[in-house]
Amino acid sequence: MSSIYKLPTALVLFLLTIVGPGVQGAEVPRIIGGQFASPGQFPYQVSLQLKGRHHCGGSLISDTVIVTAAHCTMGQNPSQMKAVVGTNDLGAGNGQAFGISQLIIHPQYNPQSQDFDMSLIRLSTPVQLGGAIQTIQLADADANYAADTLATISGFGAINQNLQLPNRLKFAQVQLWGRDFCNAQNIPGLTDRMVCAGHPSGQVSSCQGDSGGPLTVDGKLFGVVSWGFGCGAKGRPAMYTYVGALRSWIKQTANV
Ligand code: ARG
Repeated sequence: MSSIYKLPTALVLFLLTIVGPGVQGAEVPRIIGGQFASPGQFPYQVSLQLKGRHHCGGSLISDTVIVTAAHCTMGQNPSQMKAVVGTNDLGAGNGQAFGISQLIIHPQYNPQSQDFDMSLIRLSTPVQLGGAIQTIQLADADANYAADTLATISGFGAINQNLQLPNRLKFAQVQLWGRDFCNAQNIPGLTDRMVCAGHPSGQVSSCQGDSGGPLTVDGKLFGVVSWGFGCGAKGRPAMYTYVGALRSWIKQTANV
C-alpha cells in the first residue's frame, strides 16, 4: 500500500470505493463471514433497486422514509428506483416494492471523500408496518460506544470475489473500532461523519451492494455502510456513515 498513499487522498478514496475488492488482492470478499438471515429477522432492511436490480441497502425509519448512503442515490432518477421491503430473499417474490418520490442527498455530501455519505428517500406511498416490515430507531445524536462494542451489519451485497449477489439477505457481527485506532492518521480519509468497524481477521465485512444498509448497535441504527478497503482485508476496517453526527439533519429533514 505504500505507493498508493502517495496519490492524492481523494483519488485514493475514489479508487478504493469503486475498485473495492481487488485492492487488497488475495482477500476473499463476501458479507463476508456472515450467515443467512431468517425471514423477518431484519424487518427494517431495504433493497434499493435500480431498473429492477438490487443496487444498495437501506433502512426503514418511518412508514415513508428510508435512510441510505448518498453514493447510492447520487445522480439517480427516482422514477428508475424502487424500494423493496419485507423479504430476506429477493428471488422469492414475497417482497413489497414501493415507488420513490424524492431522493434527498445530504447537502454536504462529498463524492470524493465520501464525507456526509447519507441520503434520505421518501416513498410515494406509505408501507404498512407489521410482521416482516418494521422501522428501526435511530441512534441518538453523538451516540458513542466503547471500542470493540459488537455491531450487526446486514445486506444483500456481494458474497464472493466475482461480486456475485446472493439474492438472500446475510448478516454478520463486526466490532466498532475505537477512535484511537480509527483516526485520520491511521485511516486516511476518515472524518467525524464516519465510524469504522471490522473484524481483526478481516474475514467479516460489508462489501459491494451492502452500501446504504444498516449497522446497528443495541437495536438502533448507528451506521450506514459507506466504503472500505476492498472487502474484508486483515487489519482494515470498513467505514460507516456515523448516524449520531447526522441525527439532527435527519430530524430537520424528515421529522423522524
Ligand atoms: N461502496 C460499496 C457499495 O456501494 C461497498 C461499501 C462497503 N465496502 C466495504 N469494503 N466494506 O456497496
